[in-house]
Amino acid sequence: MQAQYVSNDPEYLKCGKSDCDVSIAGKCAVKTCGATLSFHVINIRTDIEFVMFTGGFETPCILNRSDPIKFANPNQPLYARVASVDSTATSMRLTWVSGDRSPQQVQYGDAQTAHSSVSTFSQDDMCTSWLESPAVDFGWHDPGFIHSAIMTGLRPSSNYSYKYGSDSVGWSDEMKLRTPPASGSDELKFLAYGDMGKAPLDSSVEHYTQPGSVSVIKAMEEEVSSGGRVDSIFHIGDISYATGFMAEWDFFLHLISPLASQLPYMTAIGNHERDYIDSGSVYVTPDSGGECGVAYETYFPMPTAGKDKPWYSIEQGPVHFTVISTEHNWTQNSEQVDLVLFGHVHNYERTCAVYKEECRGMPTKDSNGVDTYHNSNYTAPVHAVIGMAGFELDSFTQTDNSWSLVRISKFGYLRVHATKSELHAEIQEMWMMASESLNAWQIDVPNDVAAALRRGLLRARSLDESGALLDETLEVALALRRGSGEDHACAHHQHQLRGHEFCMGQESYEFE
Ligand SMILES: [Fe+2]
Repeated sequence: MQAQYVSNDPEYLKCGKSDCDVSIAGKCAVKTCGATLSFHVINIRTDIEFVMFTGGFETPCILNRSDPIKFANPNQPLYARVASVDSTATSMRLTWVSGDRSPQQVQYGDAQTAHSSVSTFSQDDMCTSWLESPAVDFGWHDPGFIHSAIMTGLRPSSNYSYKYGSDSVGWSDEMKLRTPPASGSDELKFLAYGDMGKAPLDSSVEHYTQPGSVSVIKAMEEEVSSGGRVDSIFHIGDISYATGFMAEWDFFLHLISPLASQLPYMTAIGNHERDYIDSGSVYVTPDSGGECGVAYETYFPMPTAGKDKPWYSIEQGPVHFTVISTEHNWTQNSEQVDLVLFGHVHNYERTCAVYKEECRGMPTKDSNGVDTYHNSNYTAPVHAVIGMAGFELDSFTQTDNSWSLVRISKFGYLRVHATKSELHAEIQEMWMMASESLNAWQIDVPNDVAAALRRGLLRARSLDESGALLDETLEVALALRRGSGEDHACAHHQHQLRGHEFCMGQESYEFE
């Protein structure tokens, strides 16, 4: 549900478009002032209604509503994204959405075909408790059917064209994808970020928007379309922030599809996909709005250990990615492993090579002035927070921690180029040209493949504002446990929601 103020039309307040409704003795006795608003609508398969209301979001009073407007083809196959299924890069999964439950297919390469398996989820799969949840109680929208087909027989690092759909529901446009480099090959270039979400493409307000998301996606699209080679993308949690307002998943998928349809869009789960009270999440918060990971796992099938076990590891080129879920048990001897990149805190921060708050290795400037960590004598991992892809930015604590080397609070994403001997990373700020970067650094790794593969990705949790900012993350990272970071995130989200009681949006509820 999205809403706009009629005062968005500059002609409205000065009554630039007026009609005389009642004339008395040739004089206008009742004049009305008109306004025109534009809404950007995407195909969410179900009918759309426009409702005119007054009284604001707190005490809405409906004045008029349109007849339901139907989509020409609610079954249209839409919002394709591709993902790796293993480290060989010879099979790729394509996932899309349609209003139709019959299997469809993807046609790719030289007349090859793969049929879709079809899944969906219902309101019964969502979580609720003593605290009403948007997903069950007031934000539900039918997700249609999620189709997923595995294209096999592909070559690594190769371009393919494809289309998906069926004769009965129609076909997508001709699409293009590129497979990633196979495990063990020499090079990988990937983009990474957390906490992106979505924002309306018109001037609407909705329950939860992430102001940087549209620009960041656009910057990445431009990077890819201008010929900058990107092999894959890792979105490490806090994916759509639909948080139980289910139609917002479609808006998010629509936003990323131009990019995600052409290169592997790999994901990790975040608190805003998984956490809910009494649902088995590690953190007892309502942050997923009652989705409990079900929507995320259905929309983004990854090569995971199983249902509600959303962790996996995969290799692309010379990089071994370990994707964990901090929302499930990840203590020692649990089913999971450990890490390097973090989201959840909405900014960018990079450390020295650090272990238990102590710098074990500092970078030195190379001849281009790039901070270089010399890990041929490996001591400890470098940590970077990269939760700056869309959600309103966080500021930093005042505390000066010697292990924190760089702090930037701007929207952007991480670009990484890995070879067998070096991992070069830079932060792309959204309005910069792709050739520039805000903060570049690199890690030289020993010329030893096993060590070169010791790279990980994960979600981590927030820290409080009192100076424990990275201490806690480091504790999480190194001791595999977490303290009380949620308060910070909760306070932040409450701020976004103008003081509502819980860390999720209830504005739409009130407005219904
Ligand atoms: Fe977040």
